[in-house]
Amino acid sequence: MAQFDASLKTILLNILGPLLVLMLLFLLLRKPLQSLKRRFFAYFINRMTAGVNKKLGNDKEELFGPLVAIKGSLKDRKNLTLLEIGAGGGANFKYYPRGTNIVCVDPNPHFESYLKSNSSEFPHVKLREFIVAKGEDMSEVPDSFCDAAVCTLVLCSVEDTDQLLKEVKRVLKPGGMFFFLEHVAAQPSTWSYCLQCFLTPVFKIIAEGCHLNRETWRNIEQAGFANLEYRRYTTSSWMPPLWHLMSGNATK
Ligand SMILES: C[S@@+](CC[C@H](N)C(=O)[O-])C[C@H]1O[C@@H](n2cnc3c(N)ncnc32)[C@H](O)[C@@H]1O
Repeated sequence: MAQFDASLKTILLNILGPLLVLMLLFLLLRKPLQSLKRRFFAYFINRMTAGVNKKLGNDKEELFGPLVAIKGSLKDRKNLTLLEIGAGGGANFKYYPRGTNIVCVDPNPHFESYLKSNSSEFPHVKLREFIVAKGEDMSEVPDSFCDAAVCTLVLCSVEDTDQLLKEVKRVLKPGGMFFFLEHVAAQPSTWSYCLQCFLTPVFKIIAEGCHLNRETWRNIEQAGFANLEYRRYTTSSWMPPLWHLMSGNATK
């Protein structure tokens, strides 16, 4: 009996005790660690902006070209209201026409300071508001609020793409346009697609939920926009699993 008690004591002290301490530490530090990870992600994405724009700059110029015509068609021809979902640090500001009023939505609050400092670099546009929210629930944004909505490199990370697209349609004015540029799944049965599927579980953890193999075009096709134009293409100027892109616009 005494031997049993001694073994039990050893197990409690040497195994269960440290395990309990580790669990407690994990519970206590989970939130601060999560916040630190999000802060670092915001810093990292912001640092990547110049490089990404160098590679995708031409694509973005083509994508956002119609914004000038949309602005010209407005009553006052002056102020285009644009909602950017998953705005990050404001990588797209330089491509918007003069007089664009931007409202940014992003679940990561650590992007706010980058958005503010980047918007002061591009005084031809105005950052009106930054809302901390997911694109799936933009309840702070009224119905028929904006002339244009934008997502670039966002739909790979959201939890519910269909719900986000439903919200995009709600906040767009009738006739308003949704612009998107996303990395997507490669053709099935290719080495690229296998690599995307293999890397996605790890990528999701290190890149805040980013899926390399999403067939995002299917969600947009089924979202019920009045008009949809997009192209799928590859660019060899990026990391291989991210070579496969889609870009286009949809009208409410
Ligand atoms: C790879 S970054 C792209 C940032 C920026 N759009 C760009 O092109 O540089 C992905 C962005 O999507 C945001 N995001 C992630 N989940 C989201 C969600 N559910 N709704 C809206 N934005 C989301 C992230 O916080 C991050 O800002």
